[in-house]
Amino acid sequence: MTRGRFITLEGGEGAGKSTQIRRLAEWLRAAGHAEVVMTREPGGSPGAEAIRELLVNGEVDRWDGVTEVLLHFAARRDHVTRTIEPALARGAWVICDRFADSTRAYQGIVQGAGLDIVEAAYALAVGDMEPDLTLILDIPVETGLARAADRGGSDRYERMGRDFHEALRGAFLKIGADHPERCVVIDATGDEDSVEKAIQAAVASKWP
Ligand code: TMP
Repeated sequence: MTRGRFITLEGGEGAGKSTQIRRLAEWLRAAGHAEVVMTREPGGSPGAEAIRELLVNGEVDRWDGVTEVLLHFAARRDHVTRTIEPALARGAWVICDRFADSTRAYQGIVQGAGLDIVEAAYALAVGDMEPDLTLILDIPVETGLARAADRGGSDRYERMGRDFHEALRGAFLKIGADHPERCVVIDATGDEDSVEKAIQAAVASKWP
């Protein structure tokens, strides 16, 4: 059995990841990929979903940056071992809403835990497995936060303030520039159809 492919979508709040993941999955199924698994982080397995509750609820300063890195990687290890790896091993394409680049951007760069801590935790929790392709959906902060607010509710991260989200956008763009072999930055300001087309073009150029 040929191993499946692992695609991650990243970006700040309100960039439209969930919609685009559904559209990408439909497109891949229509292209003949028998099994396409959609999943998310933090979460994606029962244990990781339980850890997610600790991360997205409560006071903004509930955890220090390093503790938060460790919680995300504890969740990620469970998700990778129980959901992602078994799916890839049976030949499925896996599309994940956020993965380790979110920890690099949110905790490593913006919350100040440092990228060294993130990479050490990655090596311990995940090893040398990484996404085949990462699509970074880029959108101005104002637009993204307005879209997220329209969705209703606001989780712990959405409450972190405007400066936090500006820094986050820069952090994702830096990650994209640092990993050009794996990352493609997608302009997500347009309508859903044009973003979908840009994503399809990136996938088609990776796997012609
Ligand atoms: P979501 O809103 O995309 O479901 O993600 C939940 C929040 O978790 C989101 O605001 C970003 C945050 N997050 C991190 O801070 N670090 C991480 O490693 C991940 C996966 C998510």
